[in-house]
Amino acid sequence: MPSRDQAADPALREVAGLDALNAIIAGSAPLVPGATQAVLGEGPEGAVIAFVGEQPGDQEDRQGRPFVGPAGHMLDRALDEAGIDRAQSYLTNAVKHFKFVERGKRRIHQRPTTGEVRHYRRWLDKELEFIDPRITVALGAIAVLALVGKALPISRNRGEAQFQGRRGFITVHPSSILRQPGDAARAEAYDAFIADLRQIRRLSRTR
Ligand code: URA
Repeated sequence: MPSRDQAADPALREVAGLDALNAIIAGSAPLVPGATQAVLGEGPEGAVIAFVGEQPGDQEDRQGRPFVGPAGHMLDRALDEAGIDRAQSYLTNAVKHFKFVERGKRRIHQRPTTGEVRHYRRWLDKELEFIDPRITVALGAIAVLALVGKALPISRNRGEAQFQGRRGFITVHPSSILRQPGDAARAEAYDAFIADLRQIRRLSRTR
């Protein structure tokens, strides 16, 4: 069923497939100027698990692939430990362009606004229509905002969820594990993330 955002953009209804959608996304200017390129979703059509992150970071913007920087390395390690094959999963972001401020030589990530998330949401919805995963995983608050349509605290909503009639799961963003203060807190957050991923893997085996 087309989402409300797609209804507001009738041209999207005519888009025949993922390649055509990706061509539209790749050809669109960033809402906030600065990004090198749009970072498209990655993974096979028909993947049973779709992971939705926030927005590309510095490395993703340079390489044009999702989750290839520090958060991506954390995610890769956790997926491996939980027995989920990244290559068989679909990985994408709520927002397709990197937003940042420059500090010296560094480009510091800026959190997307609600309006920016809403702008990109029609594309995310359409992507998920084409992929049609058994389970869609929201990694962090921005993904939740994009998939649910409103802000929800992760702590109180972590676990199984529904995203516009799709089976979903809410968990933390892998970068939140990297930001934990100290080894013990980081290990605890990592273990909880692995437990979520194992549950996601179990859920992905049933309809
Ligand atoms: N964080 C995200 O949310 N997505 C990426 O692709 C990389 C980092």
